Amino acid sequence: MQMIKKVSLRGLFLCLTFFLLPTASIAVEQPASSAIASAHPLATAAGQDTLNAGGNAFDAAVTVSAVLAVVEPYSSGIGGGGFWLLHRASDGFEVMLDGRERAPLAAHRDLYLGPDGKVIDGLSVNGALAAAIPGEPAALVHLAEKYGKLPLKQTLAPAIALAKMGFPVDEYYQKMAKWRLQYLQQSPAAAAQFLSNNELPAVGDLILQLDLAETLQALADQGHAGFYAGSVAKKLVDGVRAAGGIWSLKDLKNYQVIEREPVRFNYGQMSITSAALPSSGGIVLAIMFNILQEMELETYQGVDRKHLIIEAMRRAYRDRAQYLGDSDFIDIPQQRLISPAHAAELAADIHLNKASISQPLSGQNAEEGRDTTHFSILDREGNRVSATLSINYPFGSAFVAPGTGVLLNDEMDDFSAQPGIPNVYGLVGGEANAIAPGKRMLSSMSPTFTESKQGVAILGSPGGSRIITMVLHGILSQAEGEGPTDWVKTPRFHHQYLPDEVQFEPMALSEAEIKNLQSRGHQLTPLSSQYGNMQAIYWNKSSGNVTAASDPRGIGSAAVW
Ligand code: GLY
Repeated sequence: MQMIKKVSLRGLFLCLTFFLLPTASIAVEQPASSAIASAHPLATAAGQDTLNAGGNAFDAAVTVSAVLAVVEPYSSGIGGGGFWLLHRASDGFEVMLDGRERAPLAAHRDLYLGPDGKVIDGLSVNGALAAAIPGEPAALVHLAEKYGKLPLKQTLAPAIALAKMGFPVDEYYQKMAKWRLQYLQQSPAAAAQFLSNNELPAVGDLILQLDLAETLQALADQGHAGFYAGSVAKKLVDGVRAAGGIWSLKDLKNYQVIEREPVRFNYGQMSITSAALPSSGGIVLAIMFNILQEMELETYQGVDRKHLIIEAMRRAYRDRAQYLGDSDFIDIPQQRLISPAHAAELAADIHLNKASISQPLSGQNAEEGRDTTHFSILDREGNRVSATLSINYPFGSAFVAPGTGVLLNDEMDDFSAQPGIPNVYGLVGGEANAIAPGKRMLSSMSPTFTESKQGVAILGSPGGSRIITMVLHGILSQAEGEGPTDWVKTPRFHHQYLPDEVQFEPMALSEAEIKNLQSRGHQLTPLSSQYGNMQAIYWNKSSGNVTAASDPRGIGSAAVW
């Protein structure tokens, strides 16, 4: 049984923080400082320790990912997956590590349909059948072995220590656990790990994850096989199958990280590098920015500018629904989609005074994106990591395989359970994203770099279907000459083709803008709360100065040192 006690966050910081080493001399083309921005102060602090101990940005990325897996169990974890966008300073090499989950081999197109041919509510979201084969453990091993300098035993040590020592529940943890309480209570191992006597823990209660510490130790000791073979794999498969899931040992044995060429495009003076398929992030960003370039967005102000951004979002998400899925399974016209010529076609029917109408396919209101996590890292050599990681919904499937401490994802919901029927984010998809054995489900995660003569930016955010438009807002803020503190706090609005509505944060539109957009035909849906949790770094190449910021909407922290 996992135990819950009271403890202070400050005490944990003191345990985890080592001395800062003296800084090395600054070379030309190297940043003056290292920086980390992540969604949790314990992850930022642990990543700093790894860099200070002689690790590079890739080693720090292993540490930060693993610590987030422990202290943000509602967002990401070794039961989930993600995308790690890397830039190696020594030769400029860039790659996206695809640690996305895969559908189990026994999965099939109609897995979540009932005898009436309709989607069974909740089946792809809650419990063991919702879980796809995790990719994060394989990605951490790959990152360490191929790009890092330090052994996994060292870079995973802070996460293992935190899983053993525990971390205190904060208000955000409590809110997420409340959201998923009913389902956490249905998995005895999840309830023991994340609740207090099967009920919502109090703020300050300590979450101990002793089984997870052992699984992380197996990964540290044995690498890939520590998770995907042997006793951990057996416990995972037995636990999933006993709870109605369909995993096999072969699923785990077959899992491999894939190195992918990122998506690249330009906007103004900026060269932008972002996530490749199976994330839709890079392609959707490219379509939106190409449309805005075609429309000469910089010549518009105020509500006209917002109208054009909304219309670009609508069109890019329509392409997402129609064309995108796992490119290892289907042919996708990627080069055409990210071409300026395609954007020109899409922009041709945008009217300045009139909203377009999304096709009237079925739709529903998207839930707020409360899942997923992002971190950004820059080291003194100029190596960079932009990583967005997920277990999908808050606390994923809410299922823990007994004896492993591994909270499993519910990433299967990112497939189109039935083409045209929306998922939990209200996103519709087509045949391209239908379920198939071994296939990776379409994602919105968008770890991104921008680069110009002036500087380099590293940014990304969680937030479900809204991730891509958040990154758009961040980069548009950068294009306006603003810095990371502005990128992360800029008020956000979002359109995803269907439902045909503009969702917006309380401060994103003034009363006059709301009336004006309505008069153009936009359906406006105010959100009761803010969304997203952007983590951003900027390196000014002329001065060498580095700045970083963590989204004020979250509890994260940014460090520059
Ligand atoms: N599960 C969120 C995403 O991958 O977009």
